[in-house]
Amino acid sequence: MPRIAYVNGRYVRHAEAAVHVEDRGYQFADGVYEVCEVARGFIMDMRRHLDRLDRSLRELEIAWPMTRKALEVVMREVVKRNRVVNGLVYLQVTRGVALRDHVFPVAGTRPAVVVTAKRSDPAAALKRAEAGLKVITMPENRWDRVDIKTVGLLPNVLARQKAKLAGAQEAWFVDPDGTVKEGAATNAWIVTFEGKLVTRPAEHGILRGITRTTLFDLAAQMGLAIEERGFTVDEAKKAREAFITAATTVVMPVVAIDGVPVANGHPGSIALSLRKAFFDVAEKTQA
Ligand code: PDD
Repeated sequence: MPRIAYVNGRYVRHAEAAVHVEDRGYQFADGVYEVCEVARGFIMDMRRHLDRLDRSLRELEIAWPMTRKALEVVMREVVKRNRVVNGLVYLQVTRGVALRDHVFPVAGTRPAVVVTAKRSDPAAALKRAEAGLKVITMPENRWDRVDIKTVGLLPNVLARQKAKLAGAQEAWFVDPDGTVKEGAATNAWIVTFEGKLVTRPAEHGILRGITRTTLFDLAAQMGLAIEERGFTVDEAKKAREAFITAATTVVMPVVAIDGVPVANGHPGSIALSLRKAFFDVAEKTQA
């Protein structure tokens, strides 16, 4: 169990950490978040995650709760105080606390901030990668601004639950034209028979994943070409490989889509090698 959380200026015992009942995150999902991987004692790609946080905050006109430098210190401190060597650090910023009213609270209302961290077991994650994940597909039913990393995740929650009940680990949202958008909490990729990586452009309609962005650097280093274009569920089922990316999963091979095996139904070698090489290429900040 996590030991310590940071809540609005204080490090408190995790078991007693609480936010106000009038927090707009709680009432309206009026807030944004980030999740960074912690690997071997480093916070991975913190700069890119905080750049994206800045964009999310701007899009929603929420102020930074503190300076970026101070937030970096808090993130590192929460990782350290929880003795997380491998795991995740989570941060959330909401528009703050105000009596319930849909319109923005008065100027000067302080944004609320929470930072938590938890451990994960890299050996168990590797085992999952070596077994591969199953995904289901379902029609896109989210709002148009999924490029903003808001805490409004109800469609994502329902999609993941649906996947779980179907014996799968992720659900891919699919557009009416049959192209895959992304997973409930991951970006979606395939590998063609020519060995090209294919992923949907991130200008619109998906979250621009940080793991996805870093994979562009990694692919360049490994001499792998990336094609940024939509792909259909059908193409994915017939692809050489499929995989997903996120800070929580890094690179995870997909071995079945809606019960249909991808290629021979085993994790692809390209996905596994990307997973293996990821740590070296991502930017590392000592916790
Ligand atoms: N989710 N797409 C969606 C909808 C996501 O929620 C996420 C991340 C990603 C991948 O982004 P990144 O590579 O920056 O983690 C794509 C986080 C991990 C979560 O909600 O737990």
